[in-house]
Amino acid sequence: MTIVVTGSMAYDYIMSFPGRFADHILPDQIEILSVSFLVDSMRRESGGCGGNIAHNLALLGQRPLLMATVGQDGSEYVARLREQGVDTSGVLHVPDEFTASFFVSTDLDNNQIASFYTGAMSKASQLSFEDHSPESIEIAIISPNDPEAMVKYARECQGMDIPYIYDPSQQIPRLTSEQLADGIRGAKVLIVNDYEFGMIRKQTGLGESGIKGMVEVLVITCGEQGSTIKTGRETHAIPSVPPRRLADPTGVGDAYRAGLITGMCYGLPWETAGRMGSLAATYALEEHGTQRHHFTVDGFIQRYDECFGDSSALEVLRRDKGSCRVEHSDKEQQ
Ligand SMILES: Nc1ncnc2c1ncn2[C@@H]1O[C@H](COP(=O)(O)OP(=O)(O)OP(=O)(O)O)[C@@H](O)[C@H]1O
Ligand SMILES: [Mg+2]
Repeated sequence: MTIVVTGSMAYDYIMSFPGRFADHILPDQIEILSVSFLVDSMRRESGGCGGNIAHNLALLGQRPLLMATVGQDGSEYVARLREQGVDTSGVLHVPDEFTASFFVSTDLDNNQIASFYTGAMSKASQLSFEDHSPESIEIAIISPNDPEAMVKYARECQGMDIPYIYDPSQQIPRLTSEQLADGIRGAKVLIVNDYEFGMIRKQTGLGESGIKGMVEVLVITCGEQGSTIKTGRETHAIPSVPPRRLADPTGVGDAYRAGLITGMCYGLPWETAGRMGSLAATYALEEHGTQRHHFTVDGFIQRYDECFGDSSALEVLRRDKGSCRVEHSDKEQQ
């Protein structure tokens, strides 16, 4: 069984300014604004939804096929994921572009000035499910990416009968109501946070029951309050797992998705798959960055047992690690 992960790969450049932006912005000269802030720390983190989900799936012992794009600066990132066990043969290297990059400076009041450069992500629609045999794909996830690519992937999955999880998240405002409804309509699972669910309802004009009627399963995450998994007949309330320390909430949603997908692929009950999502999310919460946390399958099962009491259903993760293990070389753009 192969899990195909589509979604952005990006670098986050995180800088801190040891002052207050407001002290350097002159409101009466705002029309000729020109400011430069000397920052005293900078971190570069590997991120992007596709990369984050793949990282967490690898920790869970899976070998997902990552279908994503990086630029000339992306080799290191791809190599690290490959070493972790991700099948990176579906990653397109775009030589004359940079990997998508998010630059953010934060001041002492937590105000932020940020820019996002799409770079190689804008070429994501050059990738196609048609390069893979549909029978080998257990499930795919369509995560935030170049909007055109998201539309294309959803159509391809529908046409090729590939079950997919639709995860539009931060790209909701960039999709038209028709594109959103089309992506949702063919999906096995729609997963969003509670705020995004509100945005989808507003944008499409569909009510909760209308949206629920379009998918087999609707998953809504609600931060610390946990999540709900609504299938045709049942609603499962999934608790969150309290973190041992709270370092950084970014990337929790992606980690949750990896836990949920792993549970789904082993055919575990929704209750269990959701709890696996909650636990994976908490590991992400406990480290800075979205791909800095680590755990072993054994450690994960043990902690699941401590949190939820019975981890016997997860024994299958120990017995049957991963899926497709064929090695391929990475693609180069022609
Ligand atoms: N403070 C928290 N404590 C424990 N678990 C949390 C916390 N915040 C999030 N989680 C877990 O992560 C899951 C997803 O969180 P959330 O609903 O915030 O996703 P999101 O908004 O998509 O996150 P992201 O910022 O990554 O996009 C929750 O259902 C929960 O299991
Ligand atoms: Mg999210």
